[in-house]
Amino acid sequence: MRKLFVIGIGAGDPDQVTVRAVKAMRQVDVFFVIGKKGDGTQELVDVRAAILAEHATQPHTVVEIADPPRDRTVPGSGADAAYQGAVTDWHEARAELLERAFAETDGVGGILVWGDPSLYDSTLRIVERVLRRARIHFDYEVIPGITSVQALAAAHRMVLHEIGEPLHITTGRKLRDDGLAAGQSTLVMLDADCSFTHIPGDDIHIWWGAYLGMPDETIIEGPLRAVEHAITARRTELRQSKGWIMDIYLLRRGR
Ligand SMILES: C[S@@+](CC[C@H](N)C(=O)[O-])C[C@H]1O[C@@H](n2cnc3c(N)ncnc32)[C@H](O)[C@@H]1O
Repeated sequence: MRKLFVIGIGAGDPDQVTVRAVKAMRQVDVFFVIGKKGDGTQELVDVRAAILAEHATQPHTVVEIADPPRDRTVPGSGADAAYQGAVTDWHEARAELLERAFAETDGVGGILVWGDPSLYDSTLRIVERVLRRARIHFDYEVIPGITSVQALAAAHRMVLHEIGEPLHITTGRKLRDDGLAAGQSTLVMLDADCSFTHIPGDDIHIWWGAYLGMPDETIIEGPLRAVEHAITARRTELRQSKGWIMDIYLLRRGR
């Protein structure tokens, strides 16, 4: 049975690649790179290329799969039927392309995933979709990676939740729609709009980080109302100078 490795590569620091990920990379004959071209995130492509150059020392090929267009005109959020439909169509289009690329190649396959495949990443859903289509058959294995969540915690030298308390992980959009849940630490990813500025309250603390593990890593921490302007200003400045930004933050009430 043909094999595919889905390999978490950490959130930007090449030193976050685990020994297990290196061992998997060294078994791969063909890497599939799914992604957009020319969207200003060349630095992310470069991180992946540097990881491959350092660790995949065996002969291998890299097959680039251009991302199919996604209908972003559909409004809504996670649970919304129209939004779910648009995402499902996009996953199906991606599955078709991966299926074709896999069928046209031989040997062990590999897909490098930013951070860990379990968090806000569609690779595993797409691989499952390819298997369900049942036109090609293979076995796949997931190699965990360091997530941006762990990178944020390490950068701030913090525990993500209070003793014995839960941690809620969500997106910027959901934070704006649902507000900040009481009594739990809330970790926010995929927030292009600084949604923390829409959350009322004078007792909220924020731990923010951008480009974690990368040369431009920037962190800011403090009472939300005292530091929110510093964060939005710094974020705008960084995004303008680099052309892209990835940031993540934790909010907690009662400090
Ligand atoms: C599509 S999700 C992928 C998450 C990834 N699978 C992980 O495990 O971290 C992208 C989001 O992850 C966060 N992120 C990923 N890498 C980051 C980094 N190096 N610094 C800050 N945030 C990061 C940001 O919130 C970004 O919007």
